[in-house]
Amino acid sequence: MSKRPFVNRLNDLDPKTWLKFQKSWFVHAPPPRKKGVIRHPAKFPETLAQEFIEFFTKQEQVVLDPMVGTGSTLLAAMRSGRYSIGIELNPQYAEIADQLVTEEKKILGESVQDILCHVIQGDAAQITNLGVEFEFPEIDYVLTSPPYWDMLHAKGAQTQKKRRDTPELDIQYSDAPEDLGNIHDYDEFLSKLIEIYVSLKPLLKPRAYLTVIVKNVKKGGKIYPLAWDLARILGETYTLKDEKIWCQDDIRLAPYGLGSAWVSNTFHHYCLQFRNE
Ligand SMILES: C[S@@+](CC[C@H](N)C(=O)[O-])C[C@H]1O[C@@H](n2cnc3c(N)ncnc32)[C@H](O)[C@@H]1O
Repeated sequence: MSKRPFVNRLNDLDPKTWLKFQKSWFVHAPPPRKKGVIRHPAKFPETLAQEFIEFFTKQEQVVLDPMVGTGSTLLAAMRSGRYSIGIELNPQYAEIADQLVTEEKKILGESVQDILCHVIQGDAAQITNLGVEFEFPEIDYVLTSPPYWDMLHAKGAQTQKKRRDTPELDIQYSDAPEDLGNIHDYDEFLSKLIEIYVSLKPLLKPRAYLTVIVKNVKKGGKIYPLAWDLARILGETYTLKDEKIWCQDDIRLAPYGLGSAWVSNTFHHYCLQFRNE
């Protein structure tokens, strides 16, 4: 009996790699961060971004990250032969992203010379105007991670302590009022973030996927379910497909609540999958 040929309409992966990615959780061991990007307080690894991009797109399709930081999504897209557009509010991060893209192009050589990789310094809330101004093509996939509310302002955060002693490392993304990480009211933050994600819809191809990497936020002894709120509310605009949980297994445990209360060391992020259906 002849086997049916594997028809792959979504990506360029073989069935084995496809299935491996569909596991609902993963541990990622990234290479150490490069010098230029340590300044940014919360980036995701390019190697992780590349796995998502290679699952949700084919070569030469277009990836968008509306809050691109120092450009992980762009580098990952270029490495896998995808076009990409990144928007970033903080001019210094946008500049770092631009430099890294130029360096990466040199490293990768001939094969990526025609791969468009565009960094735009701007406010993601203005994406409709930016799309017109910069003549965005139709977007095949969105990979992004927002500020985790105003968590970087929290004094007790363990990683922040280290950063306070090292002046060249940023503690917050910026002082700009448009920076979503500077909105202290949770509901206001959530609705502005949702507004941005909803405004992407006219730019996306039908059936394009969106992946939002996010965490629930712990503040003042309680959880603000940012990931779950996003999943529920954004699920009214896009179809919420599922979650893939990114477990970090390389972070030192801190003695929160030791001897008195349950305070978890939260070492997982939700990679929420939506589809423009
Ligand atoms: C979690 S970080 C993203 C990091 C990025 N994934 C990376 O790997 O470098 C969130 C980013 O959103 C940016 N940001 C905050 N508000 C923004 C806005 N209104 N428009 C565009 N970017 C914004 C911050 O400056 C920050 O770099």
